[in-house]
Amino acid sequence: MSDAPIGVYDSGFGGLSVWREIHRALPEESLVYLGDGLNCPYGSLSEERIRSLAERAVRELIGRGCKLIVVACNTATSAAIGHLRATFPDVPFVGLEPAVKPACERTRTGVVGVIATERSLTGAKFLSTLARYGGGVRVVKAVGRGFVEAVESDAEDAPATEAAVRAVLDPVMAEGADIVVLGCTHYPFLRDTIRRVVGDRPVEIIDSGEAVEKRVESLLDQYDMRASGTAAPVFEFLTFADEAYRERLRRKAFGI
Ligand code: DGL
Repeated sequence: MSDAPIGVYDSGFGGLSVWREIHRALPEESLVYLGDGLNCPYGSLSEERIRSLAERAVRELIGRGCKLIVVACNTATSAAIGHLRATFPDVPFVGLEPAVKPACERTRTGVVGVIATERSLTGAKFLSTLARYGGGVRVVKAVGRGFVEAVESDAEDAPATEAAVRAVLDPVMAEGADIVVLGCTHYPFLRDTIRRVVGDRPVEIIDSGEAVEKRVESLLDQYDMRASGTAAPVFEFLTFADEAYRERLRRKAFGI
């Protein structure tokens, strides 16, 4: 057992969608969330730049004694997870990947939409997942332009955000997709807007939050690291931006 915290890292607010899943399923675990904030969005930064930002963030989380680290960012996972595992071999990592496998298994039209950042959609990891599970399925890829910015500015319900979502989603649905994968941890915060845009079309929206939470649980068991449950959990929020951003992270985590 270990009462050390679990670290959760993202470029900004997005990883809080994963933080919420972990907190819901494992309320006794202490969590340290690091939302970079200063360098967000990561979506079109170079791999090298993302690797160095991710290394800095993870060093900070390890400095806080984290027993396991969730890279709650598809983009940072794609660019940096191998580098992080090699640099910090003593810490177990959980990375995020678009939920392509379940989508390809479940589609009935044979067409799946994947919305993610530019970096995630062109990364070697995504391309190898596609090659592995995408056989016989047509995968329509689309960059969620403006989505991250909308979430970062608390503009999830703004008319301009709905227009941005429509501009990305309509062409994907027009191709016949019956499953749309949210391949960026910011996008679940747009779920209501996305549902409005989908309307009554039979389209399922899926993300990786629950699968990641299950993976966290299995690693906690594998390393015998679950919290003892005897101490009250502690929730900490860190950022490379400013105090106001840190406070916004805290409020968004708890939905206040
Ligand atoms: N939340 C991140 C992801 O899952 C990245 C967003 C960004 O910074 O572009 O890909």
